Amino acid sequence: MIKINNLSKIYTKGKNEVAALKDINLQVAKGDIYGIIGLSGAGKSSLIRCINRLEEPTTGDIYVNGINIVTLKDKELRSARKKMSMIFQNFNLLNSKTVFENIAFPLRLIKIPEQKIQEKATELLKLVELNDKSNSYPSQLSGGQKQRVGIARALASEPDVLLCDEATSALDPKTTHQILSLLKNINKQLGLTIVIITHEMDVIKEICNRVAILGGGYVLEKGNTIDIFSKPGNKTTKHFIEDQQKIPEKMLSGNILNLSFTDGSANIPIISKITREFNVDVNIVSGKIEYIQEKQIGKLTIQIDTDRHKLLDIIDYLNKNHVKAEVINHG
Ligand SMILES: Nc1ncnc2c1ncn2[C@@H]1O[C@H](COP(=O)(O)OP(=O)(O)OP(=O)(O)O)[C@@H](O)[C@H]1O
Ligand SMILES: [Mg+2]
Repeated sequence: MIKINNLSKIYTKGKNEVAALKDINLQVAKGDIYGIIGLSGAGKSSLIRCINRLEEPTTGDIYVNGINIVTLKDKELRSARKKMSMIFQNFNLLNSKTVFENIAFPLRLIKIPEQKIQEKATELLKLVELNDKSNSYPSQLSGGQKQRVGIARALASEPDVLLCDEATSALDPKTTHQILSLLKNINKQLGLTIVIITHEMDVIKEICNRVAILGGGYVLEKGNTIDIFSKPGNKTTKHFIEDQQKIPEKMLSGNILNLSFTDGSANIPIISKITREFNVDVNIVSGKIEYIQEKQIGKLTIQIDTDRHKLLDIIDYLNKNHVKAEVINHG
């Protein structure tokens, strides 16, 4: 669906150069909800804006539906863009137009017959559950409702891809959840491919089947969300995942292990097994179960009082039982 090859983006202003994207390689399959996460300045917006060429890539190729959009001229680019819609953090609605007219706007631009516009806009209002707000103005809507209008307007041109740049960052958690559910429904119902840029891991966890972690303009890690969550390989990824489960300093003594269990291993009574097999005491420091798109991942932090040799055997045993173990403190 989208194939990004060796993409780089350098912003030049006078003598100053900022390398925002460096040798990016990504593939988004049809029907994916692909998340791109990174800290501020990581290059997320630059990347998504290169996909529809709101920014000109410096080098590299971007294939959308097999067409290299980097080489397209004005007219072809305009028609390729119709298949790629975008929604924004600040909604970008036309404040002087009603909800209905905001949704109808892209259709008027391409001179769709009035009858069709009425039909399409009505259908979209229904899809985003805003039938009763048709004649309201954006200033009369809540943030979540404004983003629903943004989504309906984005869908008017029947795109293949929806690009979302921090689409829920201005919304509270409950409204975020509602908008994400709507996006997931649209993805399922219309088979729409969605690319989501965010700095919130919760967004990724809730709806993205694949994720790329961006840092300093590079793709640091990419893969299935569930794999990345259960076995983060990179420091920045860990920062996003583990931020929420900080261990109090005073508990950081002895051998401390972070364990992650996925669906396959979540039901094994692994702690009692270690205790028995290795004749050690195990303290549970913290634990939680997370759900990533209906799949379960258990996170457990344990403390084991034992020597280094036995510790390595225990780690080996855990890995054999599909529990990923990582030592975060040696004692
Ligand atoms: N138009 C521009 N001119 C010059 N430098 C830019 C421009 N846009 C972005 N940059 C720089 O490129 C780098 C990446 O910026 P980008 O906006 O892509 O990051 P981001 O991950 O979207 O950050 P945020 O989470 O804050 O939105 C930053 O160092 C930024 O200062
Ligand atoms: Mg940004």
